[in-house]
Amino acid sequence: MALVPMKQILDEAMKKGYGVGAYNVNNMEQIQGIMAAAKKTQSPVIIQASRGALKYTNFTYLKHLMKAAVEDNPEIPIAMHLDHGDTIDSVRKAIELGFTSVMIDASKHDFEENVRITKEVVDYAHPFGVTVEAELGTLGGIEEDVENVVKLTEPAQVEEFVKRTGVDALAVAIGTSHGAYKFKSEPKLAIHLVGKIKERVPVTALVMHGSSSVPAELRDKINKYGGNMPNACGVPVSAIQEGIKNGISKINVDTDSRMAMTGEIRRVFTETPEKFDPRDYLGPGRDAIAELVASKMEAFGTAGHAGDYEPKTLEDMKEEYQ
Ligand code: G3H
Ligand code: 13P
Ligand code: ZN
Repeated sequence: MALVPMKQILDEAMKKGYGVGAYNVNNMEQIQGIMAAAKKTQSPVIIQASRGALKYTNFTYLKHLMKAAVEDNPEIPIAMHLDHGDTIDSVRKAIELGFTSVMIDASKHDFEENVRITKEVVDYAHPFGVTVEAELGTLGGIEEDVENVVKLTEPAQVEEFVKRTGVDALAVAIGTSHGAYKFKSEPKLAIHLVGKIKERVPVTALVMHGSSSVPAELRDKINKYGGNMPNACGVPVSAIQEGIKNGISKINVDTDSRMAMTGEIRRVFTETPEKFDPRDYLGPGRDAIAELVASKMEAFGTAGHAGDYEPKTLEDMKEEYQ
């Protein structure tokens, strides 16, 4: 079985200059779709759960579904990651569940408080061998239940933040936001910041949140079959590729797989209203996610790298962190 620390997946990606998608999951079909794509393209993969997803599944269901992905795909390096943990308690809970990586998002606080909270989490997680991601700057839009005013990451603050906290991965704010409505007109991102940040922290993995592309064909399909997602738009794949070239290693995607599944469910309901077996619509939803995620794995350069390295364990990482 290849449940690995996220740090290993990202270190390997940094060595070879490709990006790794981190896909949010809530249920079995999403996980199966993502894993089918990883298997087909032979890609390492990060599956991540938000606090909301864990709560929705009463923690234990999602934990076992994620572990089923590991058991079912022994040849694929997989990291189980907590997305947007907000307190040390949420981090503790994820580590107790067996996650190999956690995010502490204290970006709504001022710099000093962000450093303090993040360092507390690093001091707690590293002795378990668990990877830590933090965030500096704030994304546009809404992050879980917190409204944010956009504050792009300042390259000048990054080195101090990383040095004082010891984080392995850093989410940067470059103009992306969560959800299906990222830009009012033309997509605008501060990609130039990525290279400037990377220069200052060359061994830290940089993370791009809010990186769904909201493909027009998925939006149109949802709208064609009775949905109402006017003006939905996301980050162009070419912008993500530019980000990867400049030093992004982890790319967070949630909205796109939600839309892929919703499009198929709407199509099945519209075209075959007599159907009522959940497998008749969740199955096609799962296949749509597999197709979407496989195309991302190709586009981010992840494809073909599953067998590049021997999996590390949390025990190995414990020693490395000492
Ligand atoms: O960053 C947020 C993710 O898209 C997860 O969202 O809280 O609706 O599960 P969620
Ligand atoms: P999207 O809403 O663009 O999919 O972003 C997801 C994300 O950043 C999860 O942390
Ligand atoms: Zn996010």
